[in-house]
Amino acid sequence: MLDSYLHRQAGQDMKRHLAACFVLEDEGKNVLGYYTLSSSSIPKNHIPLDWQKKYPATYENLPSTLLGRLAVDHNHFGKGLGATLLMDAMKRSLEASRSQIGSMALIVDPIDESALKFYHKYGFILIPDSGKMFLPMKTIAPLFRD
Ligand SMILES: CC(C)(COP(=O)(O)OP(=O)(O)OC[C@H]1O[C@@H](n2cnc3c(N)ncnc32)[C@H](O)[C@@H]1OP(=O)(O)O)[C@@H](O)C(=O)NCCC(=O)NCCS
Repeated sequence: MLDSYLHRQAGQDMKRHLAACFVLEDEGKNVLGYYTLSSSSIPKNHIPLDWQKKYPATYENLPSTLLGRLAVDHNHFGKGLGATLLMDAMKRSLEASRSQIGSMALIVDPIDESALKFYHKYGFILIPDSGKMFLPMKTIAPLFRD
């Protein structure tokens, strides 16, 4: 599914401004992995109460950044490329949230239990009943001090 997205749909999504796609290639231009980012929002009352309290009552929906897809070529699993792509997505979305478009968190929608465990390892918090997870920019920011 993630292969076919890159080959058949990513270009169309970019043209329609639905997603920005970032591709990791080797020196021979072979694709090693990719991820996509899109604008998104989450209802404030979906996130855990301790996080809801950090944001003004006037915000019913919180602006966020969707890491819609992230995949590594299966021939290259276990070499740190997934972590590299995730760190790049965190850095890029943090920088955009600081200087271009406000966003309180990076959101993911893990495709299966294995993906959920991968994101959990990096601190993503499950949003109850949605299957989605979020990582607040407040958590990401200290990783990328200027
Ligand atoms: C999930 C995925 C991106 C991981 O990529 P990868 O390059 O193999 O992962 P890395 O080598 O960078 O692993 C980084 C760390 O995460 C851990 N990890 C990797 N996959 C994991 C998983 N499924 N569950 C738990 N931990 C995982 C690794 O053990 C490693 O830990 P360490 O730093 O303590 O050694 C890759 O397996 C993949 O593309 N899967 C199919 C698509 C998918 O599930 N995408 C994500 C959701 S849409």
